[in-house]
This record gives sequence, C-alpha cells and structure tokens, in this order.
Amino acid sequence: MRILQVTDTHLYGHADGTLRGVETDASLRAVMAEAFAQFPRYDALLVTGDIANEDPLGYKRFRHIFEAVKRPVLCIPGNHDDLPAMRRELSAAPFSIGGAHRFGDWKIIMLDSLEQGRAEGRLAATELARLERELARARDQHVMVALHHHPVPMGSHWLDYVGLSNANEFWRLIEDFRHVRAVIWGHVHQAYEGKRGKVRLFATPSTCAQFLPGSDRFATDSRPPAYRSFRLHPDGRVETQIHWLEAVSARRAASG
Ligand SMILES: [Fe+2]
Repeated sequence: MRILQVTDTHLYGHADGTLRGVETDASLRAVMAEAFAQFPRYDALLVTGDIANEDPLGYKRFRHIFEAVKRPVLCIPGNHDDLPAMRRELSAAPFSIGGAHRFGDWKIIMLDSLEQGRAEGRLAATELARLERELARARDQHVMVALHHHPVPMGSHWLDYVGLSNANEFWRLIEDFRHVRAVIWGHVHQAYEGKRGKVRLFATPSTCAQFLPGSDRFATDSRPPAYRSFRLHPDGRVETQIHWLEAVSARRAASG
C-alpha cells in the first residue's frame, strides 16, 4: 500500500494567487509533478484540508489539476475551506470528501474537524460517533486516521491555540481500540513525527508556504513546498518520508 499525502494547497480561482509570497497553483503543480514521477504507482492520494484559500473558485482549479488521476483523491476540509463549495466541485470520482476507505489490510478514516468561521477545529458529536463506528467495524484491519487540525500540541504557542479543541475526546476514543496505527494531519505547515502510546503521529508540510516550527509567535519558514509518502505494510508497520522540493532543485542543479 502506497499512500501520498498533500496538504494545505490554499488555491485561489486565479493562478497567480499567493500565500506568504508563494504562488499556490504553481507550487502545487511542481509538487505533484515530482510526486507522480517518484511514485507512478500509488493507491490513494490524501488531501488533508485548506484546499482553497477562502475562495470557492479554488475548488475548480483543484479539480482541474486532479480530475484525470486514476486513483482515489480523498479529501477533508480545513479552516480555510468552504464545505458547501467544496462539495459542489469534489463529490464525483476520483474525489471524495470524508468517509472511510478500505485498502487491503488497511482502513483510512477521513475526519471533518472544520468549525466553520473558526481557525481552531472540533470534531462534532456526529463525527466522533462515526469514528467510533468505523473503528469498531475495522477490528480486523489496521487503521490510519486523517484530520486537518493537530490533536497534540506542536510546541508553538500561537498554533496550539488553533488545534483540535476536543482532542481529549478524540484520544479517549482512539485509546479504546488497539488497531489504530497512525494519526495524520495538515494545518501546521511543518513536518512533525511523534508517538502517543503505540499510535504514530505525523504532520506534513504544505504544498506552498511553511510555518516556523517551535515559534511562539506566528512566523514563516523558508523551507520549500513538500509532500509525504507512506508505505503501509500488511503487518501494520508504517514507513513514511517527507519529500521537500529543495532536494529536487539540488539534484537538477547537480545534474545540469
Ligand atoms: Fe493551511
């Protein structure tokens, strides 16, 4: 099982829209060109929120970029998304929003943590109930859970104000089950890897601008766009790597 994750694409209706000085359309296209060249065969692409940047036309742009892909594009909303507009553009194959998806020995549960109009996230009671149902149904599988907001502190004062506000409820539920192998998210525009009990935790940098890790006040980081690849093994092991686009530029410079 090979899974690719891209996150926080922050697209606009127009191609020259920028986030913190990075053109989000060109940046996403560069990331995908690299990801598809590196992993021509993959099982699913996960897109963990902030797909558009407060611009409903961003979903049309996103759809045009991905509608020809042959594998499922599993999406969830982030705090900059407009869920009704997202549903209008991304409800037909290869796209889906939310849900739970079986891939061999694995199940991937996509959670909606968007509280419309707020930067922090929250899992509604219905979403927590769905998570519980899906976990109970998947006892013979390994589970990866994806959401937009970080369910653990990132060690960054400003960011930790806008994480998952009911993370305790989320973890209480996860701890009731032994087959959750990984929880992944976006939102924080930086790389992170951790562990909570036996559950592995991963945040993935944005396909555009990054935030400075460990900073108490908002600050951008000069690191390049990135995506993450996962290899999910039948025995529940997770191998993963972040692919920064700087490696690509360095390789091209060396070979050119
Ligand atoms: Fe974002």
